[in-house]
Amino acid sequence: MKTKNNIALIGFMGAGKTSVSKLLSEKLGKTLVSTDTCIETCEGLSISSIFKEKGEEYFRQMESRVLEDVCRQPNQIIDCGGGIVTRPQNLSIMRLNCLVIYLESRPEDLEARLKNHTNRPLYNAERSDKMIKLLESRQPLYRDAADITVSTHNKLCHEVCEEIENRLRKYENTSG
Ligand code: S3P
Repeated sequence: MKTKNNIALIGFMGAGKTSVSKLLSEKLGKTLVSTDTCIETCEGLSISSIFKEKGEEYFRQMESRVLEDVCRQPNQIIDCGGGIVTRPQNLSIMRLNCLVIYLESRPEDLEARLKNHTNRPLYNAERSDKMIKLLESRQPLYRDAADITVSTHNKLCHEVCEEIENRLRKYENTSG
């Protein structure tokens, strides 16, 4: 396990990071932290309002600041916003302080989960081509950042969690 026993969950919007993080934090007895929730609390605004009123660049700066702050604490499950991998400085912080788990999902599964939500400024249900482009541009970043990759295809939240627990046991045995 890396410094501070933190686990960061990464993956595209709709991959199920929030549900899996919650269950995993209960099962592993770790504190649950969400970068998006921290940003919303700091700003007193929803993520959509921050994008609308202050712009994406401002949000990304907040995201990096929050990640850095969160990573000072030990023993957490960190539910990361889907775009966290787009800034190299975030990757360095995560690599140093967290075991990084990538929830890998197929585009069709992501769309099925996202289409009923209206609270994601970078997702537009009418522009699935845009979503696919964004996913393709990020996939190499997620894969590169991950210590462990788990596919979410055809799995319920508790099944993803069980697979993570199994993979963690194997990882700990092989990484000393
Ligand atoms: C974003 C994903 C969102 C949130 C923001 C930007 C992204 O988090 O951080 O809307 O760039 O993919 P979720 O992945 O939890 O939806």
